[in-house]
This record gives sequence, C-alpha cells and structure tokens, in this order.
Amino acid sequence: MKQKQGGAGPETNLVPIYIMGERYLVPDSLTIQKALEYAGYQLIRGCGCRGGICGACATVFRMPGSYRIEVGLACQTVVKADMHLTQIPFFPANKAIYNLDDLKPSGSVVASLYPELFKCVGCSTCTRSCPMDIEVMEYVSQAIRGNIAKVAELSFDCVMCGLCAARCPAEEVQYNVAILCRRLYGKHIAHRDEHLAVAVSNVEEKKYDDGLQKLMKAGVEELKKIYVAREVEPEMADEFWVPQNKEGL
Ligand code: SF4
Ligand code: SF4
Ligand code: FES
Repeated sequence: MKQKQGGAGPETNLVPIYIMGERYLVPDSLTIQKALEYAGYQLIRGCGCRGGICGACATVFRMPGSYRIEVGLACQTVVKADMHLTQIPFFPANKAIYNLDDLKPSGSVVASLYPELFKCVGCSTCTRSCPMDIEVMEYVSQAIRGNIAKVAELSFDCVMCGLCAARCPAEEVQYNVAILCRRLYGKHIAHRDEHLAVAVSNVEEKKYDDGLQKLMKAGVEELKKIYVAREVEPEMADEFWVPQNKEGL
C-alpha cells in the first residue's frame, strides 16, 4: 500500500500491523517500537535504551498462516505487513537473593541457588528465542556442569530481555543464572587488570579533580575547543598506545 500520510513523509508505504489484536496502518520502515508510538501508544514500560542494549522491549509476534511465535527486540525489529504482536515488558521469573560477598565461585553454589537448572530438557527453545543469538542452551548446560567462566563468556551479550525464560518448558531463568555466573566470574575468577587498579587509585587520590574542576568552570566555547583539540586513540592503535598529553592519565 502506498498513500500520503501526514507526519510520515510525503510518500510513505503503510502496512497493516496488529497490536494486541487491534489493526493499525504504520510506515513499513519503522521498528516495532516506533510503530507503537506512531499508532498512538505511549511507551511507559517496555522501553529503555532504544538501542538494543537494555532488553526492556522484548516482543512476541506471529505472521498470518504460520503457527510460529517469533520474537525480537521492539527497538531493533522492523515491522512486517500483517504481523500480530505484543510486548512482554515484565516476566515474573524466579530471582535468587544472595550476597555476592558470601558466595564461592563453584557449581554447587549456582545449583543451590537455581536448582531448577537440572530440569532442563535440552529442547533449545531458549537458543531459538534469543534476539542476541546467544547459545543459551549451551550456557545452561555449562552452568549445570559448574563451568562458571564458560557461562560468563557465552552469556556476555545477554540483555536480560526475558524471552528465553518466557518460552522455557522447564521454567528456567537462564538470564539470572547467567548474571550470577558473570558476577562470580568478575569477583573471583577474572584476571585483575593493572590499568584498572591504577585508575581506581588515581580516582581515590583525587588525581583528576583539578582537571574536572577546570572543565566544570569552562564556558561552552572553551569546552568545544577542548573537545575538538582532544587526542583520540587511532582506530588501529595497538595495546601499547598512550596519548602524548598525559595530563589526564
Ligand atoms: S528452553 Fe529451557 S528446557 Fe529448553 S533447552 Fe533452554 S533451558 Fe533447557
Ligand atoms: S539469553 Fe535470554 S534474556 Fe538474555 S538476551 Fe537471550 S533471550 Fe534475552
Ligand atoms: S529499548 Fe532497550 S533494547 Fe530495546
């Protein structure tokens, strides 16, 4: 369909979509999130970063003639004509309460906080549901084996959207297991970076305070000049690159 539509550009292709069963005509170039707003919805929940990072906009949809429930992040998925959709802004999944300082990085700790891990039937629905293309079933399997480092590595791109848990027949909460493992990994297993330790001690010794004060007192024009003149790390810089001006280090 091609028709003129106020506010959507001089010539906009409009396609029908169904939001919670209601039919709307929206430009075919919009993401689901923008189409929701175009249709008049005000996004109070189910919307955060708008950039595929926060995981707040998990959406399920189905195309006519197909039994398949498809999933996507509303801010990243472009509408398709005749799609039927709804968002799942909140999924009431199990979330273990713990004090990270009291936990050891062991498989038995993960298993005791999330014993339902062992109910996994290996169906791979979680992997197929993940909009970030994460090997979810594989990290669940690594969690069962107690390989915390591998879970942390495999789940690194998880945006906590909840789609895997929403579709899991074994009622797993994959993303909460994963974040527990990443926390354990970060606290106990990951290599301590010396640069980070130096940076933290510099902050504690207030080494950057004068520079920050200078920036806070500068006017807009001065700030623009500083910004334009700043030394930027070249894209292909090797790991030993350091700026010539070491004032801020
Ligand atoms: S969807 Fe649930 S049961 Fe199926 S593989 Fe993933 S975690 Fe296991
Ligand atoms: S692992 Fe689960 S919660 Fe994380 S991004 Fe994939 S579907 Fe979303
Ligand atoms: S709004 Fe944050 S991932 Fe879509």
